[in-house]
Amino acid sequence: MHSNQELKETVSKVKPLMKWAGGKRQILPHLMNNVPDEFSVYYEPFAGGAALLLELFNAGRLRRAVISDINTDLIELYSIVKNRCNDLIEELQNMRFKNTSYDYYRARDLYNSLDSNENPEKAALMIYLNRHAYNGLYRVNSTGKFNVPFGRYRNPSLPTSESIISFSNALKNVRIVNEDFESVVCEATGNDFVYFDPPYDPVSSSSNFDSYTSNGFGHDQQIRLSSVYRRLSERGTKVMESNSNSPLIDTLYRNYTILKIGARRSINSKSEGRGKIDELIIKNYTANHNPLNST
Ligand SMILES: C[S@@+](CC[C@H](N)C(=O)[O-])C[C@H]1O[C@@H](n2cnc3c(N)ncnc32)[C@H](O)[C@@H]1O
Repeated sequence: MHSNQELKETVSKVKPLMKWAGGKRQILPHLMNNVPDEFSVYYEPFAGGAALLLELFNAGRLRRAVISDINTDLIELYSIVKNRCNDLIEELQNMRFKNTSYDYYRARDLYNSLDSNENPEKAALMIYLNRHAYNGLYRVNSTGKFNVPFGRYRNPSLPTSESIISFSNALKNVRIVNEDFESVVCEATGNDFVYFDPPYDPVSSSSNFDSYTSNGFGHDQQIRLSSVYRRLSERGTKVMESNSNSPLIDTLYRNYTILKIGARRSINSKSEGRGKIDELIIKNYTANHNPLNST
């Protein structure tokens, strides 16, 4: 096991590799401010861009962690970054696709034709697509094929080799799994800390982010998540969740500490949905009360 200091020494600031809908960069200070002082294993079962994992790593507060996501290609990508970082760097250096609509759709076809199984070429294409796709979205059609259109960015870039290496170092003591959130946390104990960042309960139809994968995340899933939250609480595991400020979420978590914070969502297809809206941070513990302008 590495000490916090050893983990921290690698590179000063590791940043997310992927732009991800629902990314937590804007509310990170609030989240960090509410992380429990002490915990053993950190769980992030809806990893996406894994923003909080990296922030904990950057702060030297990560010992061991488990991250998961239902998105198989994303998890394959993280496993390759962790275990075959040089192969991925080579693929990115040899990337022949440029920032044109023609190249983008050829890259998208190739990506959709490749097997996910620990394939560095597919992982490199996923990064290319993420940085050239419309709004950095990840969306698949009913047959599981990535179908986001070209983004027309002026100057998109691929990650540097250094940023891949530092991300790889950050993943050294992280177990990376492709499982549903419920099975990931079943082994969490009373000393552990779980952060749930599920697809948010939509507050209106225009802010529905359900299409992360071919499976949606509807009310039944939100209710299932709240049962898992309750079971973990009964076991003494510290749990923090972010979600939208919707009547359903308010009801499901009324027995816990709820902090309301303002956050600007940037991924939204309708411009009227871009305003400042409330997000909730829900905790089952009371430590770290300094909620940065929250109400
Ligand atoms: C809001 S995003 C996470 C954002 C991320 N924490 C970040 O900072 O960028 C939600 C993620 O949950 C994943 N997901 C959806 N349903 C899931 C499930 N049942 N179990 C695990 N992950 C799931 C999606 O693939 C998506 O990546």
